[in-house]
Amino acid sequence: MNLNSTITDDLIVTLDGPAGSGKSTVARQLAKRLGVDFLDTGAMYRGITALCLHHGVDPTTQADEALAIARESKLDFDWQTDPPALYGQGINLTGRLRDADVTGQVSAIAALGPIREILVNAQRVIGKSHPRLVTEGRDQGSVVFPDAQVKFYLVARPQVRAHRRAEQLREAGKEADEQLICQQIIERDHKDSTRKDGPLICPDDALTVDTSEMSLEQVVDHLHQIVMQRLAGV
Ligand code: DC
Repeated sequence: MNLNSTITDDLIVTLDGPAGSGKSTVARQLAKRLGVDFLDTGAMYRGITALCLHHGVDPTTQADEALAIARESKLDFDWQTDPPALYGQGINLTGRLRDADVTGQVSAIAALGPIREILVNAQRVIGKSHPRLVTEGRDQGSVVFPDAQVKFYLVARPQVRAHRRAEQLREAGKEADEQLICQQIIERDHKDSTRKDGPLICPDDALTVDTSEMSLEQVVDHLHQIVMQRLAGV
C-alpha cells in the first residue's frame, strides 16, 4: 500500500475524543499523510475564549456578552500556514490558544449552546470549501459531520494524556505542572461529557482506538491504514 497516497475524491475523516488523547497531533499528521486539510475545532472554541478575555468578558458569568463576541468573531483560518493560523476580528489568535487562562475558561464557552451552534455551522461551511478534510474535536462524527466516511474515537489514560499535554507546553517554552494538568483534564472530561449541548460521546459508527501504549507514529500508521482500507472497500 502506498503510504503517501493522495486523496482526490471527497473524504471527511473525523477524530473525536477527550483532551490529550493525541487527537490534534494525530489528526494533523494523518491529514498530511493523506494529502488533505486539517481542522482543529478545539482551536475555534479556544479562539472565542481568547477574544472574550481580550475584551474583558468572563465566559462563566457573561454568557450574553460572550455570545455577542462569538457572533462578531469572524473566525478565519489561514490555510497556507501549517498548522493553519486562526484569526478572529482580524487578530492572530494562534499564540494565545494554549495559554493557561484560555484553557481554564474554554469549557464555559464550549457549554454555551448558541455559541456551539455558530461554530458547528462554521465547521460545516469549512467542510464544504475543504471537502477533503481530517477534522478533530468532540462532536465531529456525532453532530457536525454525521455522514463522514471514516470516524475515529481516540482515548488514553488520564495520566498519559496529562504527560503529553505537559510535554507540549514545555516544548512551547511554557511551564507545566503535570499533576495539576491531570486534575484539569479529568474535570474537563466531566464537563465535556455531561453538558447538554454537543456532549463528548463516541458515535456508534466510530472506531475506538486506545493510544495509551502507542507511539504517535504507530497511531498515525494504524489510522492511515484503516482509512486506505475503507477507501479500497476492504
Ligand atoms: O481539544 P481542545 O482541548 O483544544 O478543546 C478545547 C475545548 O473545546 C474543550 O473544553 C472541548 C471543547 N471542544 C468542544 O466542545 N467541541 C469541539 N468540537 C472541540 C472542542
